[in-house]
Amino acid sequence: MAQFYSPNRRVTTRQTINVTVTDLDPFGQGVARHQGKTVFVPGVLPEEQAEVRLTEDKRQYARAELKRLLTRSAQRVEPRCPHFGVCGGCQQQHADVALQQRSKSAALQKLMTRETGQTLTDIGLIAGPSYGYRRRARLALYFLSGEKSAPAGGKASARAKTVTQAAPGLRMGYRQGQSHDVVDITTCPVLALELDALLAPLRHCLSQLQGVKRLGHVELVLADNGPLLVLRHLDALSVADTDALRAFSVAQQVAVYLAPEADVVTSLTGDTPVYSVNGMTLAFSPRDFIQVNDAVNQQMVAQALAWLDVQPQDRILDLFCGMGNFTLPLATRAAEVVGVEGVPALVEKGRENARRNGLSNVTFSHQNLDEDVAQQSWSAQGFDKILLDPARAGAAEVMPQIVKLAPQRVVYVSCNPTTLARDSKVLLAAGYTLAQVAMLDMFPHTGHLESMALFLQRSGKAARSGKAACSGKAAM
Ligand SMILES: C[S@@+](CC[C@H](N)C(=O)[O-])C[C@H]1O[C@@H](n2cnc3c(N)ncnc32)[C@H](O)[C@@H]1O
Repeated sequence: MAQFYSPNRRVTTRQTINVTVTDLDPFGQGVARHQGKTVFVPGVLPEEQAEVRLTEDKRQYARAELKRLLTRSAQRVEPRCPHFGVCGGCQQQHADVALQQRSKSAALQKLMTRETGQTLTDIGLIAGPSYGYRRRARLALYFLSGEKSAPAGGKASARAKTVTQAAPGLRMGYRQGQSHDVVDITTCPVLALELDALLAPLRHCLSQLQGVKRLGHVELVLADNGPLLVLRHLDALSVADTDALRAFSVAQQVAVYLAPEADVVTSLTGDTPVYSVNGMTLAFSPRDFIQVNDAVNQQMVAQALAWLDVQPQDRILDLFCGMGNFTLPLATRAAEVVGVEGVPALVEKGRENARRNGLSNVTFSHQNLDEDVAQQSWSAQGFDKILLDPARAGAAEVMPQIVKLAPQRVVYVSCNPTTLARDSKVLLAAGYTLAQVAMLDMFPHTGHLESMALFLQRSGKAARSGKAACSGKAAM
């Protein structure tokens, strides 16, 4: 048997074994046991038996690739996407959505139970349609010249061979899993229908541009007032190209924005995009962070309001607030809401959206929540309830400050269960209880696992410092 070695791996063999998969991990890999060791096998589902080839053998676990399915699960479904298996975007389309959701919920439950020591018997689920859910996507653009080329030294690499053998022209798509190669896509079934329908005419339009060889990427967004695109171009566009994009905008009813530099976006055609949440309309700039899955976002915000049990007299803090996706709905029910966010443009958008929705009881503050938050103005105020929705890194810096503010309720929205579990321990150690956890199926078919959790202050432990400061309204 062939042996192979890499510095990061132990010496192993390409041994072929038969396994029975028992679980699906959150990344869509089948999990089996072999000789006391866990083996991860992409493409195999629970209860399926398969012949697999070991590709990596570590002390704690091994990885294998599927050679042949020996039995087939009733939960195996036909992937809807023709690019499944090549595109790096969705890894789980071969698994029934209910199985994906059960697997992600089980992984969340296991992690939270292990890390917090609290037994979670009932994990909630917030989900929407499993296809057509993405209202935002970024597609790489790459022009293949077709000229024969070989790297210096004359020895053509595998990639160069691929390049010279493929037909020349514009490639538009997502990155291939584990590589930077662009998978040329014709359709993307997880995209909102309106965006998916744009792919063919957009490819045609971009292919005809004089500057086709100098395009970086295109971002597609479905706003409530119609689709928009942002085209990153590396050289100035000719008048003919600008006219062609205008004509495309009219023909396809899509707003067009141009990005001549990485951090510059200018409008060529169309209105300011808006989206709605909890009955409010929020304006945004094409590149602003908005939650990708509208159906899940609507339910998530409603769940947060319900879990916080917002009362008319409440003062509420919303950390990592973006442009006010939670802040503004909270402000329609509470006495006062303070949103804290690190991106100045989002803070400005939050203020603009508060004015737009006639809300005068909300304050947005620009702060870096990775820094010494004890020095920041919000940390000296009193709050009855706190919501936080950090990025993947979590909220290590703010957790001790939340404990000091002693809110009655904390809702933590998370896009990384590992940092959620870590940060939860700070609240639990301070006497809070973990009352609810829900899995948010924000990105069906992918390995992303989002969730939200409700923490309650133990009864009798009144919000001392928080209540004391409640009456004082510090300026932000
Ligand atoms: C997952 S998004 C949530 C935004 C908002 N809650 C929403 O639902 O649209 C996380 C937000 O945290 C912000 N953020 C990330 N790191 C930060 C930091 N160190 N300080 C302040 N804000 C930060 C990001 O700019 C982003 O708006």
